[in-house]
Amino acid sequence: MWPHMRIFLTGATGYVGSAVLDALLRGGHTVTALVREPERAERLSVRGVQAVVGDLSTPRTYAGAAEGCDGIIHTALEQSRRGPEVDRQAVDTLLGAAIRHSAKGQPVTFVYTSGVWVLGNTAGAAKEDAPVRPTPLVAWRPDHETLVLDAGRGRTLRTAVIRPGIVYGGAAGVIGDLLKDAVNGLVRVIGDGRNRWACVYDRDLADLYVRVVSAPDASGVYHANDEADERVSDIVEALARHAKMVPDVRHVPLDEARAKLGPYADALALNQIVRGPRARALGWAPTLHSVAGNVARLFEEFRTAREAA
Ligand SMILES: NC(=O)c1ccc[n+]([C@@H]2O[C@H](COP(=O)([O-])OP(=O)(O)OC[C@H]3O[C@@H](n4cnc5c(N)ncnc54)[C@H](OP(=O)(O)O)[C@@H]3O)[C@@H](O)[C@H]2O)c1
Repeated sequence: MWPHMRIFLTGATGYVGSAVLDALLRGGHTVTALVREPERAERLSVRGVQAVVGDLSTPRTYAGAAEGCDGIIHTALEQSRRGPEVDRQAVDTLLGAAIRHSAKGQPVTFVYTSGVWVLGNTAGAAKEDAPVRPTPLVAWRPDHETLVLDAGRGRTLRTAVIRPGIVYGGAAGVIGDLLKDAVNGLVRVIGDGRNRWACVYDRDLADLYVRVVSAPDASGVYHANDEADERVSDIVEALARHAKMVPDVRHVPLDEARAKLGPYADALALNQIVRGPRARALGWAPTLHSVAGNVARLFEEFRTAREAA
């Protein structure tokens, strides 16, 4: 049985954060969430969440609320050019709040969200101790990871970095985009599709966050993926088999994709095999083991999520 905690959560309205919120509430934790829109605050209040209206780039809107909590989980990321700069500001603010609270003798845990793309193309299977070689899109990330990890070397502040694989489930994210493309009849694959993606089901990922924030000794880096080592082409073929109308699959050379998508194209072209022995040592065991093996279910979740939106 995990202890009851007061958690401050950023990104609760996002893809990863909303799954984390669900898991925290299921676990009986008390959650304070930072949201940007008052309307979203109301929707969360109905679920018993205390919502703080503010913005990552305006620390005074949330530093005080974060300081009162014994767990801080940061999943928000501004999807703009200034995203890395705002993330740095958020990390400084949230770590500051955690340090001030822990200085009063309170144990505090700070969990930061990174991603497996910091590993770049992996040479063999990359465990949590593998060196980082970030793809350009996330070149800024390892510094933020280091800031977080270094701050956790004290006695009362525990810090952890979770590196999710590509998240699946619902209608969002990279796999959600593929499902949408399949429904619309045209799926684009960068290169020949023989590259492998590290993926994780949203609810499984959320379960890892709850374990990391509440296990008394969890700290350091945790990889979260289902370890299916799926080739992109296997995922796309499975989608094509299950789609109501067989979609066209178009292979786009990386240069052409880069011209359209920028460094996001290189991230999608990564070839990764990722292992998470540290996550599994916490008792974490993903319930879904691949995208391709769960396509029927994922199409169903996709439709349900789109209808609810
Ligand atoms: N999705 C994946 O497959 C995946 C895989 C690995 C790592 N990650 C990492 O996980 C994190 C979350 O990703 P996601 O897919 O959940 O993104 P997302 O769906 O775009 O959610 C982003 C969240 O951040 C909030 N946000 C953005 N800018 C903000 C600001 N200035 N102030 C306060 N809140 C702000 C958004 O709030 P609004 O609702 O107001 O927009 C939303 O709740 C990111 O760091 C991402 O790199 C994601």
